This record gives sequence, structure tokens and C-alpha cells, in this order.
Amino acid sequence: MDFELKSLSPSLAASLVVDALIVLVPDSAAQVKGDDALTALVRDASRRGDLEAGTGKTLFIYRASGVKAARTVLVRAGDGSQAAVRKAVTAAVSAAKAPGVRKLGVLLSLLDDDVSAVRAAVAAVSECTYAYVTTKPSAKAREIKQVVVGVREAAAARESMKMGRAVSAGVELAREWANRPANHATPSHLADAARKLGRLPRIKTEVLGPKEVAALGMGAFMAVAQGSSQPLRFIVMKYQGAAKDSAPAVLVGKGITFDTGGISIKPAAEMDEMKFDMGGAASVLGTFAALAELQPAVNVVGLIPACENMPDGSAIKPGDVVTSMSGQTIEILNTDAEGRLILSDALTYAARFKPRSVIDIATLTGACVIALGAVRSGLFANRSDLAESLQMAGERALDPCWRLPLDDEYAEGLKSNFADMGNVAGRAAGAVTAAKFLQKFVGDLPWAHLDIAGTAWKSGAAKGSTGRPVPLLVQYLADLADAPAPKAKSAARRRA
Ligand code: BES
Ligand code: MN
Ligand code: ZN
Repeated sequence: MDFELKSLSPSLAASLVVDALIVLVPDSAAQVKGDDALTALVRDASRRGDLEAGTGKTLFIYRASGVKAARTVLVRAGDGSQAAVRKAVTAAVSAAKAPGVRKLGVLLSLLDDDVSAVRAAVAAVSECTYAYVTTKPSAKAREIKQVVVGVREAAAARESMKMGRAVSAGVELAREWANRPANHATPSHLADAARKLGRLPRIKTEVLGPKEVAALGMGAFMAVAQGSSQPLRFIVMKYQGAAKDSAPAVLVGKGITFDTGGISIKPAAEMDEMKFDMGGAASVLGTFAALAELQPAVNVVGLIPACENMPDGSAIKPGDVVTSMSGQTIEILNTDAEGRLILSDALTYAARFKPRSVIDIATLTGACVIALGAVRSGLFANRSDLAESLQMAGERALDPCWRLPLDDEYAEGLKSNFADMGNVAGRAAGAVTAAKFLQKFVGDLPWAHLDIAGTAWKSGAAKGSTGRPVPLLVQYLADLADAPAPKAKSAARRRA
């Protein structure tokens, strides 16, 4: 998608050569001054009530007089907040869509804060025009290809546009990879995608296979992979945007390319959706794509343990005990609690980077879907400042999360008679006990865990990946770039 930023008054917007012109109309529009055709149209439609009140209400006008575009869509943008702009643009694009509509104009100049509106508008256009293509090339013709975004002062909105573009590119990459069926998104395919990102500026990718992973002693990760004929991959990506000795943020994405449950097999209904169980991995790939565009002054490491969870003759069995890279032993009581197993070794591996923070992203528990639904991702953290940074990033990026507790009492159920821990506790507080399991592998590192089981994809008629939490992660990393970075060494000392 090609986004262009322009300084546009309403009268300039009226002469724009586009197939459809979308005009965002604030609540105050009945009083708007100006006698050009478009301003008068907006004022009259607001005063007379033809453009109804209510964010996202639209009025479609064909061949509006004085407007060059054949289609004009006025849309209510409420208080002009980012959330309202997103809702308005989504509604307006669906009203404007028609065969032959390829170039779109989106006028934001009437809004008080047309600067932050740019980012929200770009995200919304990208979100509602994305079409999955990998195994459905007939949908290839994404009709809207060019978007001109109009603001009062283009220079002032450059950064907002840059952020909007970067996040959209990241979300689209994450969505496409997560949407791919498991036979088109094997661990090896994910590694190829990461290698391809490794050709972008400041990004390096390294991929470890079964031999290297065995040499590292990643017994928990290997245990999950052993029931599949697809070889595992451990993907290490590095984005270097700051000085070499600046401690990185480490992102760890769960990359189960298909989760059958293993021997503790899942029911057949909706099992296809377990192709989305690499949504965390996809969000790491997407975040790196966004970093390549944004080029923020921060160091980031991305880790993706990738494998299938399958039940074949060599698969792990309930009761098997494995030794993780940390040296701790785990009794695998339920082979369907595989995400925490592969993440445990990746979290142990993360410590070698002496990170300023470690954030894992995982479609980890059905219990989190029950707790928070599809609105907010579950957030767990062993540091309140890290939790707050992530919460704020989520709000700003319209990709919200909600903090859940980590009291030690929640770890009681993980006790085992045959290993240092079991991999499941009871049914109660399943999202929390999963997080408590992960916490056993992070030591004192500043760590957060995002359970995206409810937010990473949609079911039903709109089945498909959302690309979340790429917007949250990119915002968090961009915020880090704006804050002074600790040195790697002092980050290590801070652990004491
Ligand atoms: N990938 C699933 C979690 C999941 C389930 C996400 C449904 C979205 C929708 C994960 O590997 C899993 O199977 N978790 C189990 C854990 C249980 C065995 C303790 C679950 O949530 O049922
Ligand atoms: Mn599972
Ligand atoms: Zn899973």
C-alpha cells in the first residue's frame, strides 16, 4: 500500500484527483467556517442532520458539486481521538469501496489533532483493505492501492505517518504469516521468512537446527518437537539501532506452527485454528519488519522457538520427564501445555543478551480467552515499571492489554513428585499458572509475558489473524528509543 502525506485545505482536497474522497467530520462541524464547496457541504450536512451524529456514521454523495472525486464520503469522527478516527475511517472505507476505487483521499484537516489522526487513519485503511493471498491468489487484487492523507501541515505529521506506515507493514506481515495454513508455515518456512527480514537494514538473522538446539541442551523444546516429522528451528534475529553495548529488549515469540495437543490430543472441532498457534512468532517477525522501516535507536533481539506439536510414535507421553536448558526438570503431565515448554528454553537462552527487558508473546492458554476475551491481551510482569510501559504502549497503539497477577501461591499446583515441576496446574486461573511456569525460567530479569490467545486471531466468518500485538510492541520499542538506554553491563549489575 502506498501512503502519501499532503498539506490539504478543504478546497484543495476538493480538487484532488482520487476515486473517492473521505472527509472526517468532527462533532463541532456545524460551526465550521469557510465558503468553499466542501466546507459548505460538511457544514450543511451536519446542521441539517443528513450526516447523523455518532462516530462512524457516514453520508455518501455521488458527484458532489465542486468536488472532483466521483465519490465523497462524509464520516463522523466524534471527539477526534485515535480510537474514533480508526472507527470512522473503517466505516468510511467500507462505504467508499466499489469496483474501480483504487486511489483514496482521506481528509483529516478538519480535526483538532490531525497529527495523531494520521497514524490511526493509516492503520485503519491498512487493516480493512488487507487481503490474505498466499493460498488464495484469486483475492490478490487488493483494489485500494494508493491513499493520499490530507492534513493542515504535512511537515508536522511526518513522524505520525512514518509510525502508521511501519506499524501497518508489520501488522500485514504478521497477519499473512499467521493466516498461512500449517503446511505453508512450517518451522523451516518461518526461518526463511526471518532470513528474508535479515536482508533489511540493521537486521541480522541466525537459524539454529536440531543439532545446535541439542548442543544447547534445550530438552523442553526438543521434547515438543520430537513427535513431528518437521524439524524444529530456533530463530535468532537482531536489530541493531543503538550502540553495540546498549542492552537490548528481547522479544520471544511462541512458534507452534500447529498444535494438535500431542498425545493429550485436542477435540476435532475448530482444531484448524491451531494453525494460529504461531501468532506470537508472527508478531515478532512483524515487529522486525516495522523496525526496519522505523529505524529507531534501540537494540532488539527476537527469539522464535518453532516446531509442530504432533502425536506420532516418538511423541512425548504424559508423565515423561525432560530436562530443560536451565537444568530444571519438568514432568509433562499434559502434552497440550506445549507452549510453555518451548518458551522455557527460549527464556533461558534470552539471559545471554543481558537484556534490559524480556517480553514473551504467546497464544498460551484458552483460560486467557475466558478471562479477557478478544479485547485485551493478558499481561504479566515481574516489574511494575515494565508493566506500565507495556500498558501505556497498548493504549497509545489501540492494542490494549490488561495486567494479571503473579502471586507465588498460584505456583502451588505446579509441584511434582517426579520432577522440579509439572507443566500444568489445575483448571483454576489457567492463564496465571501458565505465567508462573514461565517465571521459573527468567530468574531476576525484567520480564513480561503477553498471553494473546484471545487477541491474535478472530474466529467465525471473519476468521483470520489480527496482527496483534505488533502495534503494542512497536510502540513500546519506539518509546524505549526515546528514553536513555542502559548499558548492557549495568543492566546485568542491576539484577543484583
Ligand atoms: N495453543 C493452546 C492455547 C489456546 C487454546 C489458544 C485455545 C487459543 C485457543 C495451548 O497450547 C494449549 O493447548 N493450552 C492448554 C493448556 C492446558 C492443557 C493446561 C489450554 O489452554 O487448554
Ligand atoms: Mn496446546
Ligand atoms: Zn499451543
